[in-house]
Amino acid sequence: MNQDELKKAVAKAALDYVQPGTIVGVGTGSTANYFIDYLAEIKHRIEGTVASSEASAERLRAHGIPVFDLNEVDGVAVYVDGADETTIHRHLIKGGGGALTREKVVAAVARKFVCIADQTKLVDVLGAFPLPLEVIPMARSYIAREMVKLGGRPEWRQGFVTDNGNHILDVHNLKILDPVAMESELNQYAGMVTVGIFARRPADVLLLGTEDGVKTI
Ligand code: 5RP
Repeated sequence: MNQDELKKAVAKAALDYVQPGTIVGVGTGSTANYFIDYLAEIKHRIEGTVASSEASAERLRAHGIPVFDLNEVDGVAVYVDGADETTIHRHLIKGGGGALTREKVVAAVARKFVCIADQTKLVDVLGAFPLPLEVIPMARSYIAREMVKLGGRPEWRQGFVTDNGNHILDVHNLKILDPVAMESELNQYAGMVTVGIFARRPADVLLLGTEDGVKTI
């Protein structure tokens, strides 16, 4: 199976976590897009969705799936989203698509967070994938200098503006041995909006697409 087929397999497997009559949180990216396409097949069974990006909201609406503002709903039963990296402990790096802030908010609200990823995303230590940081524009250079002090090599994702009007720094060379501690530490910088480490609130379930089928971790 190629990577796309593995993404489709985990996206389909995530349907098992969708409960009838509930609000489903929907992530962003190519794996989440496959999930949206499968969700369309059972759209009559759910109340609706909240989306972690404008792009996902648009795709959901194109399928005729209702999209609510997070402030309008009582809760989110399950949140389904991909990842750029994951450990076996379900600590993640996210934000490759730049939607990390809304992703973290929906994950925080969701009663269950199901991460869907193909086997190429599984790592022993987070950090080979450059860590995305969403920062307010005026803090970009300041936070970049602070990341250099930590041994990182920040790159400004030039020309990209998040759905919230902010900038993204992709920080290379970080070896994230203690994801919970590093997420907490990086959260403290003035002007930091969101750190792309999802460890304080990890995924509850990881559906990993492998050659031997979908593994549940
Ligand atoms: C977007 C994300 C995505 O979940 C992550 O980039 C994975 O994307 P894909 O499913 O396309 O590999 O965090 O901000």
